[in-house]
Amino acid sequence: MIVRSAELAASADHPKGYPDDDLPQIAFAGRSNVGKSSLINALLGRRRLARTSNTPGRTQRIHFYRINDAFYFVDLPGYGFAKVPLEVKRQWGPMVRTYLEQGRGLVGVVQIVDLRHPPSREDGQLRDWLVEYRRRHWVVATKADKVKPTRWAAHLRTIAEALAIPREDEAGLLLPFSALKREGVDAVWEALLPWLGSDTEASHG
Ligand code: GTP
Ligand code: MG
Repeated sequence: MIVRSAELAASADHPKGYPDDDLPQIAFAGRSNVGKSSLINALLGRRRLARTSNTPGRTQRIHFYRINDAFYFVDLPGYGFAKVPLEVKRQWGPMVRTYLEQGRGLVGVVQIVDLRHPPSREDGQLRDWLVEYRRRHWVVATKADKVKPTRWAAHLRTIAEALAIPREDEAGLLLPFSALKREGVDAVWEALLPWLGSDTEASHG
């Protein structure tokens, strides 16, 4: 994938603010601070297009990044950080569910979890919604650089079990990743390109 242009096209907390064109959208969702923005930046080869922070829970709107004027990467707000005000926590569920249900152009979702830890209740909830709304998705387990490669398979199995991913589907649904080491960048792109179809700029390069 050659990324020629990438820009923040919209930030919304309500469907009225979503982009009003028909370009395909790929959304990224996961716990606060799990590494969503870093993963988006690693895929795009940009250092800080999607903001990364050490202040978890700051991304409380849905950010739409338009890539090559051909498709969107959608950075969904993170969940599950204890210090986030209750009011903000209450908004997260409806905001994300509304997008997953109604998002025009949404062709697939990348659910991001932490390879180091068993998924949280909210990670399980998100996966349930993806199944319920019949959204195509991949689960990407990031921060793999923090786990010895010899332990990856065991950690991946724990994650698959907790998210009710059948063993036979694991290879087609779950990928290890590291934004720090740029590990898994090509594999994730390979997983996402089919969602964008063959007639977009995205498939060239
Ligand atoms: P919010 O938008 O605040 O919910 O966070 P986010 O999910 O976008 O996470 P972000 O990309 O901002 O990363 C959070 C922290 O994790 C930062 O300090 C990153 O440097 C770090 N981080 C992200 N990805 C990796 C990774 O693959 N490996 C390591 N070691 N650290 C990572
Ligand atoms: Mg972020």
